[in-house]
Amino acid sequence: MAASALAPAAAQETAGERETTVASSDPGAERQSPDLEALVAQMTMREKIGQLVQRMGGRSKALNSRLGPDELEKVRRGEVGSYLHVAGAEPLRELQRVAVEEGRLGIPLLFAMDVVHGYRTIFPVPLAMAASWDPAAVREHAAVAARESSAAGLHWTFAPMVDIARDPRWGRIVEGAGEDAYLGSRMAEAQVRGFQGDSLSAPDTIMAGTKHFGAYGAAEGGRDYAGAEVGERAIQEVYLPPFRAAAEAGSASYMTAFNAVDGVPTTGNAALLRSLLRGEWGWDGLLLSDWRAIEELLAHGVAAGRADAAALALKASVDMDMVADVYADDLEAAIAADPALEALLDQAVLRILAAKRDLGLFDNPYKYHDAAREAAVMLAPEHRAAARRIAERSIVLLKNGTGTLPLARDAGRIALIGALADDPLSQLGSWRARGQVEDVVTLRAALEAAHRDVTYVPGADSRSDDAEGIAAAVAAARDADVIVLAIGEDYDWSGEARSRSSLELPGRQMELFEALEATGKPLVVVLMGGRPLAIPAIAERADAVLATWLLGIEAGPAIVRTLMGDNNPGGKLPVSFPRATGQVPVHYDHLPSGRPADPDLAKDTARYMDLPITPLYAFGHGLSYTRFDYGALALSQPRIAADGGSVTATVPVTNTGPRAGDEVVQLYMRDPVASVSRPVRQLRGFARVTLQPGETREVAFTLSSAQFALWSQAGEWLIEPGTIEVMIGSASDDIRARAVVEVVGSATGRIAPAAIATPVTIAGNR
Ligand code: BGC
Repeated sequence: MAASALAPAAAQETAGERETTVASSDPGAERQSPDLEALVAQMTMREKIGQLVQRMGGRSKALNSRLGPDELEKVRRGEVGSYLHVAGAEPLRELQRVAVEEGRLGIPLLFAMDVVHGYRTIFPVPLAMAASWDPAAVREHAAVAARESSAAGLHWTFAPMVDIARDPRWGRIVEGAGEDAYLGSRMAEAQVRGFQGDSLSAPDTIMAGTKHFGAYGAAEGGRDYAGAEVGERAIQEVYLPPFRAAAEAGSASYMTAFNAVDGVPTTGNAALLRSLLRGEWGWDGLLLSDWRAIEELLAHGVAAGRADAAALALKASVDMDMVADVYADDLEAAIAADPALEALLDQAVLRILAAKRDLGLFDNPYKYHDAAREAAVMLAPEHRAAARRIAERSIVLLKNGTGTLPLARDAGRIALIGALADDPLSQLGSWRARGQVEDVVTLRAALEAAHRDVTYVPGADSRSDDAEGIAAAVAAARDADVIVLAIGEDYDWSGEARSRSSLELPGRQMELFEALEATGKPLVVVLMGGRPLAIPAIAERADAVLATWLLGIEAGPAIVRTLMGDNNPGGKLPVSFPRATGQVPVHYDHLPSGRPADPDLAKDTARYMDLPITPLYAFGHGLSYTRFDYGALALSQPRIAADGGSVTATVPVTNTGPRAGDEVVQLYMRDPVASVSRPVRQLRGFARVTLQPGETREVAFTLSSAQFALWSQAGEWLIEPGTIEVMIGSASDDIRARAVVEVVGSATGRIAPAAIATPVTIAGNR
């Protein structure tokens, strides 16, 4: 074993002197992890601050482009702790070599990238993956992404994005799991486990960077970066649970949100970060700011200058400064003004060094730089197969009016219309990492390969105001037996800074739909995009509607197999579809009103005069090519103790239709009388079950009393005595079975109920 660069002898060296024995660039060489506190004791103030600095090695579209001689000089001087927007086993090996062999203390660098839904093998966008209601598949996606990105020299991804989003105007809704805290928590923990595996130090795992801590998804008006005006109960019960679930799953890092919560910008919010996240939750990982968010504390109007901003962020316990160089340039001045900050600096350095240690970088800084492995794993056939599997599972059948789908094998001539059917770039979504357009199989390519008689006409796209192609689309439709119309939003309508004021179909696509509908031919709409859209006319007049989001490199085959019935759609909506933009935010777990909505306009109730208050498609909605019947709900016992009790709710589900299919069995609860008004229902369990025709399975959910807790007026998790209604069904608006359990006594809970996973068992009855 080579002597460690950080061996005790180093402690005797004076600052500025270079190490004599450093890591070997032999990949097999193992060093010993240093005593981190001893290492910090050797560091100069500049070196400590250097660890807190994350710089861009390039831009997201030009990776590594900034790694010139000046940058390497900074690395040698110990002024950088991490790089983002870098990739490649070989280039990063060289950068790492400079850090560990030419830097005074030989401290390895952390390499990071936004690997959000795949690295080279691009999976469906996260909102789509949430529609699979399949945490195991989502975990598998993250494991594949980790395998590929770690082979490309990366240690860290800025994912999962777990922000709850209830306003589809917010473009970043595409990056998360939708509107629900329970579903969001399951997706969060699945991804953390997939990225990090069993050990962070394994060469094929990476550190998760759960983001954006706070209430970023509650941005006012759906405007990206805007502040969140939400009450403490909503923060605790809705916005924070997925972060808590990620912490429980071991997320080694978090990123702070850009925005303010109740007037306090998150990146300088000591109450939220230092007291709640680190204090109450006991989480001790690496906390990173978002892009220039420390500097933005000035624009938020809470810091008078950069040194002030640095002090605020450090006091809030933000360890690393993403690209703003506020810590790099101004933290020293802040510490000079307030020497008490130096102890906080040491804590931050220790946490960053601990992450490097846990990744195994002190033992072998080159373990992620194996070019042969990099070449072998990228886009491996099993990765593509995994992308196909989850793409198929993410598709939601919104409507199938007259049994239009699946299409008959002898469907005759298909008119495939819509620019989105032939747009590979869009299927890669807004975070495409190293995804390549040529890897994508589009709907057009897949349909032309699968069916002998396809006429393709773009007709209209989501970006231009050009209606000239509509006539040709109508002509093709007249000449066909069935129309498959791909409409929606291209990739650039959703994502960061892509908020919209309207949720209608952009461009001339509505005109295109109406012209095609007027032909009277069977019309199947394939709805693409990264957010729910307000499409009431399409819901009413199309013969069938499939929500296919942006599905990654296997989008085309997944959609075609679904159209043709080789895949029976089993996805469910992770977010409500509004009837109109003015209806948002609309989510299933709203509070009851003192005057519940009544269609009778003569009464003054909580409704719109011009629109029902129900969504167009509810959370949890999704049809199948088969049918499922639910039997009665049986409880293991009628009452449970508030303090540690549990109850099992079992329901038989039968496939009464003609073909095999998946049903997502959903369990909701309601607390009808409590010290605070409770939502009309809340998801507390689900299971995606495959059933053969005629098959029945018993689905059993075991709920613990802690899952009935509410955030009390006194600011704690409180389980109150009284009844809880348990509801099981096929969607939030399609409850099939009910029961009531009584909670006896009261108790306090430890964490948000939505963060707690409900164990489910599925017993055969074939
Ligand atoms: C985004 C983050 C992202 C970061 C680095 C920011 O603008 O808000 O989600 O991780 O950039 O690319």
